[in-house]
This record gives sequence, C-alpha cells and structure tokens, in this order.
Amino acid sequence: MNFHIMTLFPELIDNAASTSILGRAIQSGIISVNAVDIRTYTENKHGRVDDYTYGGGAGMLMQAQPIYDCHQAILADIDARKAKDGSPKRDRIRTVYMTPQAPVFSQDKAEELANEEDVIFLCGHYEGVDERVLEEIVTDYISIGDYVLTGGELPALVCVDAIARLVPGVLGNEVSHETESFDDGLLEYPQYSRPEVWRGKEVPKILLSGHHANVEKWRHEQSLIRTKERRPDLYEAYMMRNGQGTN
Ligand code: ADE
Repeated sequence: MNFHIMTLFPELIDNAASTSILGRAIQSGIISVNAVDIRTYTENKHGRVDDYTYGGGAGMLMQAQPIYDCHQAILADIDARKAKDGSPKRDRIRTVYMTPQAPVFSQDKAEELANEEDVIFLCGHYEGVDERVLEEIVTDYISIGDYVLTGGELPALVCVDAIARLVPGVLGNEVSHETESFDDGLLEYPQYSRPEVWRGKEVPKILLSGHHANVEKWRHEQSLIRTKERRPDLYEAYMMRNGQGTN
C-alpha cells in the first residue's frame, strides 16, 4: 500500500515514518510513505505558498495552485507506476484533508482506507486552505479529535500508522490486531507479564490457571468493566448491538 503525504514539512513525515514498525514495513516494501513537498510546486518566484484571506481576518491561507499541482504530480506518478506494472488504470484516488472540521477518525475508517492501494493526505498549515482546491481534490475529511494542532502532519501520521498496521504483513503477527481494543467495540482487558508479584501486586490467579475457557471469560468480563468505566459511550453502543440495552 502506498501513502502519499502532501506537506510543507516533508522531513517531519520522513523522520516519523523511518523508525519502528512503519520503518520496517517500508524497508521490506510492504508499504511506502512518500512525503511530497508542496512548496516545490509553487509558481511564485519567492517560493510562497500562502496569502491573505479575502474578506479579511487574521492569518494566512494556503493557496490553491501549489496544492493542486502537487496533487496532479502524485496522480501522474501513480499512473506511471500502474502503466509500468501493467495494472489497470486507477479509479478515483482517495484524497484525505486533515482538519478539525471533520468527522473524527476511527478504527472503521482505518479499515476502510486499508483496502485502498494508494491514499493521498493533504496536511494544512497557517489558517487553512483555499476552499476551491479542497472541492477539486478532496474525497474525505478527517479530524483526529476535538482540539486544534499547528498542522496536519501529526494527524496524517496518526492515520498512516493506524491504517498501515492493518495491511497484511506489517505487524508480522497476524493475530495481534484481532484481539484488541475496538475490534468488537470494547476496550482491551488488562494484561500482565513476569514477575508474578511486583511491588506486592499479584497477577490475577485465573491467568496462571492454564484454563483457557475461564481465562477468555475473565478477559471478556474485564473488557466490559473497563469499557463501562472509561468509555460509557462505547459500552452503551455494545450493549445495544448485543440486544441488552441499558435503560
Ligand atoms: N489539523 C489541526 N488540528 C487537527 C485535528 N485535530 N485533526 C486533524 N487535522 C488537524
């Protein structure tokens, strides 16, 4: 799977994507993360990519032209790759604009995007982006939460990480994302490793029993307790889905 990130700070993307699990997946060719510098595409002779907002107001806006040309260049690269591979011509390539003015990212959205061969992210800066280019290129608007960051790079990396780990081969251990938070809409149960007693705290006896069915039952109960306590919204939704409404 190929991630293309349109940004004014490509080094931020390259640094984050070169380490740990993402770095290893890139090295082994399972995914690619291609940070593309929007500034390269500006027609402004001083390298500017932003300007004042019509109608007034504080702050600068990213202009349409460099972003549009950057997007066109990425599409041309995708076309060239597909022609070389002999694979069919592309459908519309999903292009995501990272913005707090959008639905909040979720595991479902990560799963949906993990089915794509290419996904393009646009990272905004300054006070935002000229609306006309968004209308022209964007297929999906995603926020990572109800707070405002200085730019879209960290949000894009959050999405890339969550999507990439769903791509077969990236985690190595295929079962490890089957039994985790959100897969059935519940939070994960508590887990313990050695030693059996640490600072006087014992590992729950049932986990040492070797009785698989009882362990599974205990874990499910713990997931329910934890979800009810920490994310009552998810607990409610789970209970409704499982025919046990809480009212
Ligand atoms: N850009 C700035 N803040 C953001 C957020 N919360 N989510 C996505 N993109 C953003």
